[in-house]
Amino acid sequence: MRYLDVGADPTTVRISRIGLGAWQFGSREWGYGKSYAEQEAHDIVRRAVELGVTLFDTAEIYGFGRSERILGQAIGENRESVFLATKLFPLLPVAPVVEQRAVASANRLGVRRLDLYQVHQPNPLVRDGTIMRGMRALQRVGLVGEVGVSNYSLDRWRAAEQALGRRVLSNQVRYNLADRSPERDLLPFAASTGHLVIAYSPLAQGLLSGKYDRDHRPANRLRTTSPMFLPENLDRAGELIATLREVADAHSATPAQIALAWVIHRPEVVAIPGASSVGQVESNVAAADIDLTEDQYQALSAAADRFHPVTGPAVVPHLVRARFN
Ligand SMILES: NC(=O)c1ccc[n+]([C@@H]2O[C@H](COP(=O)([O-])OP(=O)(O)OC[C@H]3O[C@@H](n4cnc5c(N)ncnc54)[C@H](OP(=O)(O)O)[C@@H]3O)[C@@H](O)[C@H]2O)c1
Repeated sequence: MRYLDVGADPTTVRISRIGLGAWQFGSREWGYGKSYAEQEAHDIVRRAVELGVTLFDTAEIYGFGRSERILGQAIGENRESVFLATKLFPLLPVAPVVEQRAVASANRLGVRRLDLYQVHQPNPLVRDGTIMRGMRALQRVGLVGEVGVSNYSLDRWRAAEQALGRRVLSNQVRYNLADRSPERDLLPFAASTGHLVIAYSPLAQGLLSGKYDRDHRPANRLRTTSPMFLPENLDRAGELIATLREVADAHSATPAQIALAWVIHRPEVVAIPGASSVGQVESNVAAADIDLTEDQYQALSAAADRFHPVTGPAVVPHLVRARFN
């Protein structure tokens, strides 16, 4: 495993370049079922800890608190060796509510400190002054270590930092070979200022593993209704997947591992792939040690540039067709 030193409080642990996303734990959207929530998820977390993963990401809304509970239980006595991140859903973004929700998350996780407390997405109606007042109070009493945001534009990230009056360490955003928009301004900002981009959906929810195509579409609700998994878009992803396979062969690796190695090639990025099995977490962790050559990195980026999925209103007829096929 490789780690990132973000100059955090020296009492906190280093952040692993590959973390583990826990949205899958206990959430209906992913549909992995009861035995996954009760057994496999625990095994995944324990194996991740054994392999040196320190960054674990969850949120109060994942499975309406179930993900936090499962993650907290699975981490158990390994609490001191992990960097725990969770998120607040800013429905009512006023300081007392923020404080009360942090306590509730900490209770579900069974911890006394949230190493990273993130605002899940910007509230479109209310600016961040009141949330950050709550965050400041939480940091003052030691319940929160670092503050982060998620799905924020660069301007809003900076404004949040100004409101907090100290650094907002990270912005958690979708970043993968099928969506490179954070490269426009978030990555350069993070690289030049010592902030962090946490890449979610680094495998484009499994698309970049190469195991799905128009004849093998994933079955769960989240992905059957996702434009990215439309037969048309799976076809369009063919060339990108072929390039992933080519680079993977050169490293005796898998396309998923190369997709992750590409995401964390830039030093200001860490990735938090989810996993449906212990085997996947083992494979994802091993990706941290793959060094892509500059040629390979460029070839993957160029293939990504040529991938133009159907998006926006144009997906509607495709979704309807896929639904009834
Ligand atoms: N802040 C936000 O708004 C936000 C949004 C989304 C996600 N997140 C966070 O980011 C985490 C990861 O994102 P994500 O779950 O959306 O997508 P992801 O990590 O890109 O995809 C995860 C899925 O890919 C497949 N997979 C994982 N490892 C694999 C491997 N080695 N080989 C083949 N397939 C593999 C698994 O699905 P199958 O095996 O079923 O194919 C797994 O459930 C979440 O758990 C969550 O913590 C945050």
